[in-house]
Amino acid sequence: MTEQTYESISTASREMYARACEVLPGGNTRTGIFNSPYPIYARSGNGCRVTDLDGVERIDFLNNSTTLIHGHAHPEIVAAVTEAAGRGTCFALPTEAEVEFAEAVCARNESFEWARFTSSGTEAVMMAVQAARAYTGKPKIAKFAGAFHGAYDSVAVNNYGSDSLTPHSHATGTPAAILANTVMIPFNDPDGAVAILRENVDDFACVLIDPVPWRLGLLPANREFLAALRAFCDETGVLLVSDEISSFRIGYHGAMHAMGGVADLTVLGKIIGGGMPIGAVTGRSKFMSVFDPSQGTPKLPHSGSYNANPVSMAAGMASLRLLTPEQIDRINAMGEQVRRELRSVIAEEGLDWAVNGMSSLFRIVTSTVPGSDLSGPELSRLLFQALLTNGILIGNSGLGCVSTPMGQGEIDEFAVNFKQAVRQAVAAARS
Ligand SMILES: Cc1ncc(COP(=O)(O)O)c(C=O)c1O
Repeated sequence: MTEQTYESISTASREMYARACEVLPGGNTRTGIFNSPYPIYARSGNGCRVTDLDGVERIDFLNNSTTLIHGHAHPEIVAAVTEAAGRGTCFALPTEAEVEFAEAVCARNESFEWARFTSSGTEAVMMAVQAARAYTGKPKIAKFAGAFHGAYDSVAVNNYGSDSLTPHSHATGTPAAILANTVMIPFNDPDGAVAILRENVDDFACVLIDPVPWRLGLLPANREFLAALRAFCDETGVLLVSDEISSFRIGYHGAMHAMGGVADLTVLGKIIGGGMPIGAVTGRSKFMSVFDPSQGTPKLPHSGSYNANPVSMAAGMASLRLLTPEQIDRINAMGEQVRRELRSVIAEEGLDWAVNGMSSLFRIVTSTVPGSDLSGPELSRLLFQALLTNGILIGNSGLGCVSTPMGQGEIDEFAVNFKQAVRQAVAAARS
């Protein structure tokens, strides 16, 4: 029997790509999920499995880039969305759904006194940065070289994993003033980070941190580092903003809490929306009051036609209700097992790749293949395609996660198919 290849199992996707390129630059709407020579197009998802246009089913270890913690089309989330949509999808009036969801979000962490909703993580990061500027009256922000925080131009600086401290943007034409106001600091280097912060201390509104930055290899911030940042912020009045859009899932009370840190503002997204568009800024009321219009024009006006729309609120309520401490413990244990199994395959194959991450998140970091000149990112793409060919979906940079509908069967299948995919990727790298 001839071995299946990416091309041999994706005829319908190839045809859809040709059609899509007539109307969409590159045939889709997300740079991060483009794949050469063409992406696989999804048809449907159910639980932890996704089916493509060719009818090929795969176990989904990507879950819309870590969004779908309860997998696809969870019956309780579908019911909540259907019911909410039946009552009207958006109003230019506040709703009880938004109050109820804010109560649920704020109940997760004692530093979440008030919440403000947006329709994406990008918007929520933007509002958090602007809130810090409004509160402090300062223009600059500090972020960690290489870390990703979405598409807002002030944070889309050195956001592709490089540890260079010289600000640059992949968004061609980004104004020099933006780059001048976004200062790079090194991750997990308390002395190095604080030294740079002190150079600009009078100009900083906030330090923006993802406690487990996936573009930096998904290695967690250590406690000493978080403590040094907290001490600097307490001393200077600079706000510590924790972007937990991907990492909130680490613990019931969020990532900072699980890692022994405390933020002034926390940005949430992805899993809190149950698969519907969502973002949230949360934090102490003294900081969040910059949004408050009840005493006149607020320091930070914030509108948006879809902010707190009742469908996202209802999906979010259902998602949080399902995300009990027991479920978090269960998927975190499965995440640990996945990392162990993948590491053991990599060792058996004699490769120097790493599997990083914590809780239910993992990232496979490819480095070299003996006998091949390909770089880590090129190898990641080969592995991604080989996994797709072997019934597994992860991110094209090696990012993945475990979801609540998964069990031992999916992990066993992943381990077996991973071995096959690694062998194929290594052979392709050498050819
Ligand atoms: C840490 C982090 N911040 C911000 C974002 C942007 O969120 P969204 O894609 O909802 O705009 C992401 C998305 O991957 C993220 O992982």
